Amino acid sequence: MMPLLIAVFILMGRLSQAACYDSWLLDGETFDFVIVGAGSAGCVLANRLTEVATWRVLLLEAGEEEPPIAKVPAFYPYLQVPNSPLHWNYHSEPSPWACGGQSCTWYSGRGLGGSSIINGMIYIRGNPHDYNEWAAEGNTGWSYKDVLPYFLKSEDAHSLEENETTYHRQGGYLGVEKPAYRDYRHQILINSYRELGFEERDPNAGEQEGVSLVRLTTRNGERQSTNTAFLKAARQLRPNLRVLTNAMVTRVLVDPVPPRAYGVEFFLDDDKNMLFSINVSKEVILSAGSIHSPQLLQLSGIGPHEFLEPLNIPLIKNLSVGYNYQDHITSFGVAYSLKNTSVEGNINTEFQDYEHYLKNRTGPLAYIGLTGVMVFARSNNKKLPDLQFTHLPMAVGDQQVKPFPYYTNLNMLPILLRPQSRGYVKVVSKDPLEKPVVEPNYLSQGAERRILAEGHRLMARLGETESFKELGLDLDMSIVRKCAWAKFDMATFWECCIVNYTIPAFHHVGTCRMGPTADHGAVVDPQLRVHGVDGLRVVDGSIMPTIVRGNTNAPIIMIAEKAADMIKQFYNGTGTYVC
Ligand SMILES: Cc1cc2nc3c(=O)[nH]c(=O)nc-3n(C[C@H](O)[C@H](O)[C@H](O)COP(=O)(O)OP(=O)(O)OC[C@H]3O[C@@H](n4cnc5c(N)ncnc54)[C@H](O)[C@@H]3O)c2cc1C
Ligand SMILES: *[C@@H]1O[C@H](CO)[C@@H](O)[C@H](O)[C@H]1NC(C)=O
Ligand SMILES: *[C@@H]1O[C@H](CO)[C@@H](O)[C@H](O)[C@H]1NC(C)=O
Ligand SMILES: *[C@@H]1O[C@H](CO)[C@@H](O)[C@H](O)[C@H]1NC(C)=O
Ligand SMILES: *[C@@H]1O[C@H](CO)[C@@H](O)[C@H](O)[C@H]1NC(C)=O
Ligand SMILES: *[C@@H]1O[C@H](CO)[C@@H](O)[C@H](O)[C@H]1NC(C)=O
Ligand SMILES: *[C@@H]1O[C@H](CO)[C@@H](O)[C@H](O)[C@H]1NC(C)=O
Ligand SMILES: *[C@@H]1O[C@H](CO)[C@@H](O)[C@H](O)[C@H]1NC(C)=O
Repeated sequence: MMPLLIAVFILMGRLSQAACYDSWLLDGETFDFVIVGAGSAGCVLANRLTEVATWRVLLLEAGEEEPPIAKVPAFYPYLQVPNSPLHWNYHSEPSPWACGGQSCTWYSGRGLGGSSIINGMIYIRGNPHDYNEWAAEGNTGWSYKDVLPYFLKSEDAHSLEENETTYHRQGGYLGVEKPAYRDYRHQILINSYRELGFEERDPNAGEQEGVSLVRLTTRNGERQSTNTAFLKAARQLRPNLRVLTNAMVTRVLVDPVPPRAYGVEFFLDDDKNMLFSINVSKEVILSAGSIHSPQLLQLSGIGPHEFLEPLNIPLIKNLSVGYNYQDHITSFGVAYSLKNTSVEGNINTEFQDYEHYLKNRTGPLAYIGLTGVMVFARSNNKKLPDLQFTHLPMAVGDQQVKPFPYYTNLNMLPILLRPQSRGYVKVVSKDPLEKPVVEPNYLSQGAERRILAEGHRLMARLGETESFKELGLDLDMSIVRKCAWAKFDMATFWECCIVNYTIPAFHHVGTCRMGPTADHGAVVDPQLRVHGVDGLRVVDGSIMPTIVRGNTNAPIIMIAEKAADMIKQFYNGTGTYVC
């Protein structure tokens, strides 16, 4: 343990850079735009909007600076320890079909970079069909053909082959790398899937089904949060961008008739009795994520009449804000552990890995272990993938947190890509510091549980392949003790695991969903403007009408890239600053 701690400190020293930016602000000052939340979307917007030199932009973030420890890809498990200041903790309403009938807990990131500071760095764009479906519902401009250029706009792909340039590009702000490291275990796991009939292919290049070693949002072996990729340089070089951390926005200021957002109210450094307000000459943009964006709208009088009335919040616009909550969901079930630990590395090889990483940003610490093996699959001959298989080298109940490559356990997690359940986020107090109620209705549909069971069954087949046996792993039932009464691989066993060992996948979206004017459940229009309220947009994961088939970071970065272009077109702004 000692060498590890020492290495962590060395890394923190080496990687930390002074954060001494001008952050004074006058109460009552006016900006062209205020962006609420510096997450995956907010940092991209702050960069792109300040390309217009005449626009003054204020970015407000409730959390702090991104900590240096977040840079090391393999340290991902350290970023998720409970009670960390780096994330918001959420608790769902209990459901009979998830988390053993108790409340589920999950996170989203807090600080410059938002969830992209603590996420798994997995770079997945979703299925082309997802976007075509959005467009077919009246969201003009959001088909796959329309959004692909915005994925490419961000991307700076490392080691690009000539035959990959239709779907990848070099030159964007966001570093995206092919696996920086692989060892024999990666190949064995890929071979096992190939034995089961999966083809090896890049899931971001049209066809999604198959197995791959996933690309990461890293640059030279270090995490690319949207803070690092989009915000840092703009913040240093552009005088028209102001960034405040520890700035907690409490509501949007809205003139009721005709409805128009004219500013925001916030407090700094936990001093909630000292409120500041800032006016905007153009727009307030909410990028506070899928829990906080709907919460702020509701607190500001924009939301479902039935949510606001009991709290005596005057209704400015009756919209379905907070509904349409969706998340990917998974569960434990099949787990393996390495009984013969002499096969694994010891503390000395770990120390070598640290040295190696410090010198060169390569080796196991530059990647995410076996979690890098990614599979998209179809249950019951569906047309499109509805399952994603992920491999988590982590033991439930094992209190010790380790860097990703050093676990001797492997959990097989099938992720439900197209949940049918819909939930909601609802404020239950006028106090912005009080958490809203989140009712996800996880797994309330029998069909969802059946698809997940099929995913578990498919992943269990892996253990029977010749290749997998080379890993020397033994099935470990201790992880699912509550289901010991059921027989392994029987329907009752899977149902038990799914209901008792549920895990939300941290991809919550949909709560301010996009749709055309004729769509009464829509909160924002296809330009992401709040229906019926001037000067107000929502730009983050909450605008997704239906969750994409895949991890949500890259799609949300794309959403922000596209939003920035729509805003520039609307105000006839043209970019001049580059950095
Ligand atoms: C642990 C974890 C692992 C993940 N792994 C992956 C992965 O490997 N690949 C992938 O593609 N996706 C992953 N995701 C999902 C992905 O990172 C998120 O969906 C995405 O980052 C969300 O972007 P966003 O802009 O909607 O919100 P966020 O990035 O969450 O940003 C919202 C920001 O707003 C701030 N904020 C909230 N309320 C206020 C307020 N009142 N005032 C001021 N600021 C406020 C928050 O602090 C936060 O910084 C993961 C997520 C988590 C949490
Ligand atoms: C902000 O806008 C509101 C509403 O238009 C106005 O009443 C107020 O005076 C403005 N504040 C400043 C400091 O401009
Ligand atoms: C591109 O070319 C490389 C090297 O020739 C090959 O290995 C790879 O499979 C090709 N990729 C695609 C998407 O055709
Ligand atoms: C609010 O909108 C909902 C959904 O469109 C509708 O059912 C309800 O009657 C509306 N309530 C008010 C007070 O306008
Ligand atoms: C454990 O693995 C080592 C290295 O491969 C091997 O030499 C040893 O025999 C194994 N022990 C057992 C009990 O399988
Ligand atoms: C350093 O990294 C590069 C690739 O990024 C690799 O080619 C080189 O072999 C590495 N050097 C050492 C000493 O590991
Ligand atoms: C969850 O576990 C409990 C405790 O073992 C068990 O009684 C229950 O049947 C399980 N739930 C399901 C749906 O199997
Ligand atoms: C942008 O320019 C177009 C055409 O010149 C004009 O019609 C429109 O009003 C302008 N928009 C704004 C917000 O200034």
